[in-house]
Amino acid sequence: MAKNTSKVKKVAVLTSGGDASGMNACVRACVRYALDQGYEVYGVKHGYKGMVNDEIFKMEYSSVSNCVHAGGTILRSSRCPEFKEPEVMNAAVENLLKRGIENLIVIGGDGSFRGVEAIHEGTKLNVIGIPGTIDNDMGYTDSTIGFDTACNTVVDAILKLRDTITSHDRIMILEVMGRECGNIALNSAVAGGAEYVIVPEVDTDVDEVAASIKRGFDKGKSSSIIVLAEGKTELTDELTQKISDATGRRVNHMALKWMQRGGIPTVEDRVLAAKMACRAVELVECGQSGRVIGIKGGEIFDTTVLEALACKKGFDQKLYELAQIISK
Ligand code: F6P
Repeated sequence: MAKNTSKVKKVAVLTSGGDASGMNACVRACVRYALDQGYEVYGVKHGYKGMVNDEIFKMEYSSVSNCVHAGGTILRSSRCPEFKEPEVMNAAVENLLKRGIENLIVIGGDGSFRGVEAIHEGTKLNVIGIPGTIDNDMGYTDSTIGFDTACNTVVDAILKLRDTITSHDRIMILEVMGRECGNIALNSAVAGGAEYVIVPEVDTDVDEVAASIKRGFDKGKSSSIIVLAEGKTELTDELTQKISDATGRRVNHMALKWMQRGGIPTVEDRVLAAKMACRAVELVECGQSGRVIGIKGGEIFDTTVLEALACKKGFDQKLYELAQIISK
């Protein structure tokens, strides 16, 4: 009888950087689609840190049961700056290679993608990236897993805050995460009907913000919400003072912070996660490496991680201008 010499195909999955809702849906789709394609599948706990520390375990179909709707990441995550050191990265990669795992799928943001590039360039491991970050700050793709859920969380906060500030004729400055990117702030402000949005991509005239908020009250508004992007938080004190002086009303400040990262992922994030996972496994099956998945005009595509990292995020100036007009 002929000996079966066929090699077992193996792939590992990890989540890295700030968690984002929809990561679990992505892990689940990666695991199950890869199993369906005949792979042995492994999970790496705690992102690149777990790869360094050998936190690698076999995953089965049931390992991802009941997580499609869950926020956070069942694989856990971490930030691992030491992964930039080649000897640390090589030791981490060796932990996969010694198990015969020659493929890795990394779900994370641009910091994680720099790890993808380093692994691709410097080791024998095939690696594919999937964009998972609430920030939606990666220029090569229209969206990232977790962005839609984070925006919905901000909108929910806006609506709840509106109840209390309307009851008290107050003003709220709502600070939202997003690093140096104003995408969460802008989209949430438009969807939530905020009176003003302040983003890093546009210069801010604080006197004009205060005058605009005052004009709103003069026209009969009973409350006002200003969405302030993380990249502009240095303006908080000046905004508070000037808006208070201009309106004579109490101005409160609240930072939503990590609230934005958790919660039940939206349908949009879950479907995006599944589609991106499917493309990633297909690339693994084709023996590809150093590529990342994106979405443009509703179509899933892949490109090199180098191209993706070089692409600066565009800003939707038209939406910003529309927000200025319809929120007055
Ligand atoms: O990248 C996601 C994000 O939530 C950013 O919006 C924020 O600036 C950062 O991570 C916070 O990181 P950490 O949880 O490590 O403090």
